[in-house]
Amino acid sequence: MPQVHAGLPAIRATAASTRPLMLLLLGLWTLAPARAKPPPAPDPLRRGWQRLLAEGEACAPCRPGECATPRGCLAGRVRDACGCCWECANLEGQLCDLDPSAHFYGRCGEQLECRLDVGDALSRGEVPEPRCACRTQRPLCGSDGRTYAQICRLREAARAQPDVNLTVAHPGPCESEPQILSQPHDVWNVTGQDVIFGCEVFAYPMASIEWRKDGLDIQLPGDDPHISVQFRGGPQRFEVTSWLQIQAVRPSDEGTYRCLARNALGQVEAPATLTVLTPEQLNSTGMPQQQSLSLAPEEEAGNEESEDYY
Ligand SMILES: *[C@@H]1O[C@H](CO)[C@@H](O)[C@H](O)[C@H]1NC(C)=O
Ligand SMILES: *[C@@H]1O[C@H](CO)[C@@H](O)[C@H](O)[C@H]1NC(C)=O
Ligand SMILES: *[C@@H]1O[C@H](CO)[C@@H](O)[C@H](O)[C@H]1NC(C)=O
Repeated sequence: MPQVHAGLPAIRATAASTRPLMLLLLGLWTLAPARAKPPPAPDPLRRGWQRLLAEGEACAPCRPGECATPRGCLAGRVRDACGCCWECANLEGQLCDLDPSAHFYGRCGEQLECRLDVGDALSRGEVPEPRCACRTQRPLCGSDGRTYAQICRLREAARAQPDVNLTVAHPGPCESEPQILSQPHDVWNVTGQDVIFGCEVFAYPMASIEWRKDGLDIQLPGDDPHISVQFRGGPQRFEVTSWLQIQAVRPSDEGTYRCLARNALGQVEAPATLTVLTPEQLNSTGMPQQQSLSLAPEEEAGNEESEDYY
């Protein structure tokens, strides 16, 4: 008895008329992963398609012994269009079939669902296409001590390294002492100009940031009206960014400033120096001698701008 599949009428109705399209899309399918992440084992997927094309409209009787064993399926395995062999499920971001009875692009893996995000695609100037998306967007801490944006990323990492036995340690990000992702840079400028130091920190629990100047016992800005400090959450989740701004710098502002980030698990800091030149100093120094000021290479890159003061 030939096996009858629920999705069969849909395939029969479309397969004959769309076969050139299918072949074209099959070609595109093999190109598509280059845009995102190359799937480590595309062969089982492709084999599933060859099988579908070879068999045309009807599913042959299922002979599990003849099925290829898909390997390296990062999103897990699903049954093929005939409900017979296992094949790799589609990963987050890969194309999928919105209609569950269709088997064109394939099915999304565990914890993933096929979603058509019209607004998102249009904003990127693309034609909206259904793609696999994770059902949840809650961050998790893995048993490897790393934070995963959501369960699908963790499962993917776990399947990519089966020998590691990666599991969920607990919901929410892994607790960690602050990490300074972007530290303040050494700067120099002429008196009267404004300078800004920035400091971007990741931590969970969230870090608090403070600024201090070496030799001063106070937390900035203190009561100094020409210094201001700003904070903002982001740019990513569990990050804080802070800026120290000194308006109209004076020679007395020279020194080392520190960004200090702290949470319950620890504290880290990053220093940056401010060098203040008077217009006379800048004039008498001249460009060729600037290395004698022991400026770091990145400040020398600002030389073109400093010609404004010449
Ligand atoms: C993987 O970890 C789980 C939970 O810690 C444990 O029960 C299981 O035995 C481990 N498996 C291997 C292969 O180490
Ligand atoms: C000096 O400050 C001004 C204004 O803040 C800025 O536009 C300029 O790039 C700074 N120059 C250098 C060399 O950093
Ligand atoms: C800079 O030097 C030039 C000539 O060397 C001089 O004319 C000018 O007044 C100087 N400017 C300042 C701000 O000292």
